[in-house]
Amino acid sequence: MSPPIRHYLQFNDFTADEYAYLFERAAVIKRKFKAYEKYHPLADRTLALIFEKASTRTRVSFEAGMYQLGGSVVHLTTGDSQLGRAEPIEDSAKVISRMVDAVMIRTFGQDKIETFAAHSRVPVINGLTNEFHPCQILADIFTYIEHRGSIAGRTVAWVGDGNNMANTWLQAAEILGFTVHVSTPSGYGIDEAVANVRSGAGYKVFKNPEDACRGADLVTTDVWTSMGYEAENEERRKAFADWRVDADLMKVARPDALFMHCLPAHRGEEVDADVIDGPQSVVWDEAENRMHVQKALLEFLLRGRVD
Ligand code: CP
Ligand code: NVA
Repeated sequence: MSPPIRHYLQFNDFTADEYAYLFERAAVIKRKFKAYEKYHPLADRTLALIFEKASTRTRVSFEAGMYQLGGSVVHLTTGDSQLGRAEPIEDSAKVISRMVDAVMIRTFGQDKIETFAAHSRVPVINGLTNEFHPCQILADIFTYIEHRGSIAGRTVAWVGDGNNMANTWLQAAEILGFTVHVSTPSGYGIDEAVANVRSGAGYKVFKNPEDACRGADLVTTDVWTSMGYEAENEERRKAFADWRVDADLMKVARPDALFMHCLPAHRGEEVDADVIDGPQSVVWDEAENRMHVQKALLEFLLRGRVD
């Protein structure tokens, strides 16, 4: 009997041991690619990419990555498929998963991707939901390790919205043994039930962003208004005005602290240009690493451990 299929819907879906393997594997796969070494473990395999929200990095990284592994992709959006015409998710999952080998979905509610996965014959990957963005945190932690070594025992400062990125950082902290210092405007904090954190032990809440950043090894933020919340834009601009990562905030972090942002960024809103374009910022490595870690993820989900 073949082993049960694995999905990647939340950061919680893998263990610390599996993450250690994935980070090592991502480094190997990245080296092969940089050396122009052909590596086609997914020849003849197809990945479906379903987008119900806009994307640049997620689309390019999955699409380029899948081709580099010898496979191919099918790209679907709500507007150009039956997904936007109320075909039940269960039916779409049954049909699509009979024709492809893995499915990546970017959508609104986490419940949609969970329903899809429950009716899929193949692995389903979360390419961002309102609640989580596990592939991004996979890339962020891989980037941290490349620059500074293990993230265990370190402190990550989260400045801004208690959103999908923040929730995923909290799950990662529990699994990988680091601490997140969270500072959000009032009314935009973490909802533990949504974040699905087990103990609450991986994070501390600070009213003031400066206190959250003090002594941090990594400072990170995200847009004030995530996709799907555009109607709240004006209200959020006012509420978040003091939650901008600027040079003063970076100064209270450790001198060797890194800055990360999943992108796209709004300079002058959640981050100042001199921070995101400054020497502590690793945002371009972070973006590139989406592709390398997702190649390791696809290999793991479809082929299991290969070494
Ligand atoms: N960071 C990220 O997921 O970017 P896209 O929205 O461009 O895919
Ligand atoms: N929190 C942002 C991340 C974009 C990659 C959003 O959901 O829009």
